[in-house]
This record gives sequence, C-alpha cells and structure tokens, in this order.
Amino acid sequence: MTVIALGADHAGWELKEALKAWLIENGLQILDFGTHSTNSVDYPDYALQVAESVAAGKAERGVLVCGTGIGMAMTANKVPGVRAALCSDPFTARMSREHNDANVLTLGGRLMDKELGLEILQMWLSTAFGGGRHARRLGKVAQIERRHLEGREEEPHGTS
Ligand code: RB5
Repeated sequence: MTVIALGADHAGWELKEALKAWLIENGLQILDFGTHSTNSVDYPDYALQVAESVAAGKAERGVLVCGTGIGMAMTANKVPGVRAALCSDPFTARMSREHNDANVLTLGGRLMDKELGLEILQMWLSTAFGGGRHARRLGKVAQIERRHLEGREEEPHGTS
C-alpha cells in the first residue's frame, strides 16, 4: 500500500486536513507528522520530518503545506534524495512528476482552496515519471548533491 507522509504548519493545517481525509478515503496509508492545530509553529520542523521519512523510504511520497509552500520546499530540498516541488496548479503538478520525478509536493495553504489543492494532489499522485532525457537531467542534479555531500564529509580533516 502506498504510504504518504504529511506535514503542515499552522498556515497549512486546514488544507493538510482536507488532503488527509481524501487520501484516507481513497485507501492510501498516511503518516501524519502534524501540526495538529492552527497554533503558530515553525515550518522547518515539519518539513524535516516528512523529508526524512521519504528519504529513508518509510513513505513513498510526501506532501507539505505551509502558507505559500515556499518554506516547506526550501527545507525539504535540504535533505539528500528529496526532490520537493512547489506546485500551484494541476499543470505544474503533472510536470513535477513527469519531468522532475518529484517525491515531495509542497502547497500554499493561503494561495488555494481545498478544491484546487485536491486537484493538484490527484494529478501529482496519478502521474508517472517520464524517464529518458529527464532521468539524465536528474542524474546531473543528484551528482551536484553528491559532490556537496562529499565536500562536507571532507571538511573536518582540514580544520583540526
Ligand atoms: C507562516 O506565517 C509562513 O511564513 C509559512 O507558513 C510559510 O508560508 C513559509 O514559507
């Protein structure tokens, strides 16, 4: 069964709850990392948990909602192996899967109503990665990530 990790801050909580209800109704398994109310919280705390669960293979995909979706995307993309895409409509959702093999979707809860959020989510979940030239390009993205990770590992040797 497909497992979807969910996370939101206070500005994304309402939309996250609507998406969660739809996912459950449609037989998907949910890992809800919160938040669980509209009390003010910090979006990186939720983005990190969702991103790490996807990177570790505990969830196949992740969905993150904050006010604009920007902070969630910025944070999730710091976790190696995560390809988080901020989508604003069904077209960007389709492209983020077909061309970018996005494994985390981020949405702006202050930018859209529940209906549009659900349309985006459904398109994003039902679109397959196109492979081919897109795989070659993602290979280059992964190479950049690896290069910077290797650089970080080397740092302590030169600084002691
Ligand atoms: C919270 O006010 C807001 O900054 C946050 O939800 C998000 O939009 C950040 O990118």
